Amino acid sequence: MRKKIIAGNWKMNLTGAAATDLIEAIKREVADVDKVEVVVCPPFTELKAAAAACAGSNVMLGAQNVHWESAGAFTGEISAAMLQAAGVKYVIIGHSERRQYFGETDETVNKRLKAALAAGLIPIVCVGETLEERDAGRMEDVVVRQTKTGLADIGAELSKVVIAYEPVWAIGTGRTATPAQAQEVHALIRRTLAEMSDGDVANGIQIQYGGSMKPDNAKELLSQPDIDGGLIGGAALKAESFAAIVKAGV
Ligand code: PGA
Repeated sequence: MRKKIIAGNWKMNLTGAAATDLIEAIKREVADVDKVEVVVCPPFTELKAAAAACAGSNVMLGAQNVHWESAGAFTGEISAAMLQAAGVKYVIIGHSERRQYFGETDETVNKRLKAALAAGLIPIVCVGETLEERDAGRMEDVVVRQTKTGLADIGAELSKVVIAYEPVWAIGTGRTATPAQAQEVHALIRRTLAEMSDGDVANGIQIQYGGSMKPDNAKELLSQPDIDGGLIGGAALKAESFAAIVKAGV
């Protein structure tokens, strides 16, 4: 049985007390939850304070990106070792906003993934098609390519990766994929993972859905056989809505 994993992607939001207060409130709301992995991913500048706030609780800490080099002349970048030193356990890689605005490619996703795994971080690798790609009948090609290239050459480490299927047209738009649409792609991703490794490994990998997941649609999405959690943007910025999604996964 795969454990469900609900992760909050705060994006470029919240500083100081607003960030730690949110974590404190989430901790209170989910204190009794042990059937779901709960992760918060604040901006880099809040990670240390967030680590202190999460310490000793069932709320885990994640970051939103990682560079592939371990150190050196890479102005503005953050290495996996730096994330580890800040108390981070998970890291989002290849979010569609990184692909769309910051030149992220399947190749750079793969480099970041390898660096994260080498440092013992749990990567959350995002894949998903744009509306244009879906309308052109290319959803399958795009998702399979992103999965195969982004997760290439990691051997048995594949079993340690979390994948987030995030249709770009559903992110921040209020337009959620239907449970059937999401399930179809999750099953496709799992078949692709089975081709890359074997059925047992593929069956153990958690695949989250992301894109306007909210308390009122979470239960139905999370009850699909291949949907193992959620990567939550907007609804992760309020403890009540985030905790309601976590509880929908119990
Ligand atoms: P959303 O964002 O929940 O606001 O649609 C999800 C994401 O981008 O990870």
